[in-house]
Amino acid sequence: MAKAKAGDFDWQNLGFEYYDLPYSYHAEFKDGKWQEGKLTENSTIQMSEAANVLHYGQEAFEGLKAYRRKDGGVNLFRPDQNAKRLENSAKRLLMEPFPINKFISAVKEVVRANQDFVPPYGSGATLYIRPFMIGTGKVIGVHPADEFQFHILVTPVGPYYKGGLKPTAYVTSPYDRAAHGGTGQSKVSGNYASSLLPGSIAQKNGYSDVVYLDPRLHENIEELGGANFFGITKDGKFKTPKSPSILPSITKKSLLKIADDFGMEPEETTISINDLDQFSEAGAMGTAAVISPVGSITHNGNKHVFYSETTAGPYTQKLYDRLSKIQNGDEKGPDGWQVDVPLN
Ligand code: PLP
Ligand code: COI
Repeated sequence: MAKAKAGDFDWQNLGFEYYDLPYSYHAEFKDGKWQEGKLTENSTIQMSEAANVLHYGQEAFEGLKAYRRKDGGVNLFRPDQNAKRLENSAKRLLMEPFPINKFISAVKEVVRANQDFVPPYGSGATLYIRPFMIGTGKVIGVHPADEFQFHILVTPVGPYYKGGLKPTAYVTSPYDRAAHGGTGQSKVSGNYASSLLPGSIAQKNGYSDVVYLDPRLHENIEELGGANFFGITKDGKFKTPKSPSILPSITKKSLLKIADDFGMEPEETTISINDLDQFSEAGAMGTAAVISPVGSITHNGNKHVFYSETTAGPYTQKLYDRLSKIQNGDEKGPDGWQVDVPLN
């Protein structure tokens, strides 16, 4: 696949797809330590046929974005949180964590090297950053690898859920993506592998994504295939599911703070799929999803419509505006949320 050129992109109309950009980042763990990492123009990976990741799934990844500011500079949003979550995911799969300070400098380095691909301010597009770790050590029995690779790929993206800020439809599923006590709290490939079938069934039936229910009772909302869930009660309170098997979303953590600043009394709590009437608005939240309004959820054939199937509700819009203004650098956020990428 030919390398992309910045002039090739129609920034306003980007989907959520992969483009092969000039530079990626690559580091290796061998001989018991992380070796010095570097930028590479090689966007392929070589490994043994017996690499753990190919058989027993030692893989963990992250997702964050680089945002073009009005002054032409570039910001990251809370990259320290991604570094910490990758460390937790790595530990859960017995992989050697990539050092947190190196994570942030590697992210900056690869964004700087691909700076022409950070979409323009106001285009609605961003540069998506996908750091990931794989177990490359050779195994045939079920054991952790003793060698690992850490990579970062970047690619420009538009909205993850097609409508962007236009509400879309979601559906529950008899399938689960993660078990209590499993790896739902970790950002690891296995969770997404198990979501491919239910996700593709949902999409074939015209839905944006699956609303997963708790794996024990199939009663309470967990999260969506690629984002956490929130609901806004009729009296303007922000509620989001609490569960041991959902991803601790950095966007959620940020919106809990923003909702608190707005006096929306945010709460992480059990949310029954049979109690959707309490909400006047609902949404998906995540790095890729940003805030994507949930227009409806269909459960057991019954469709529950929230605020509207065509426009975002006022609370959703207000949360979106504040979050995206912080991310784009238009408004100042809490300390540490906006991290400048020095450009050359
Ligand atoms: N839940 C799942 C399953 C996800 O894939 C994501 C995306 O990263 C999220 C939630 C949102 O997490 P974050 O806000 O950290 O991107
Ligand atoms: C992200 O939001 O960064 C994710 O990893 C979600 C993924 C489904 C694209």
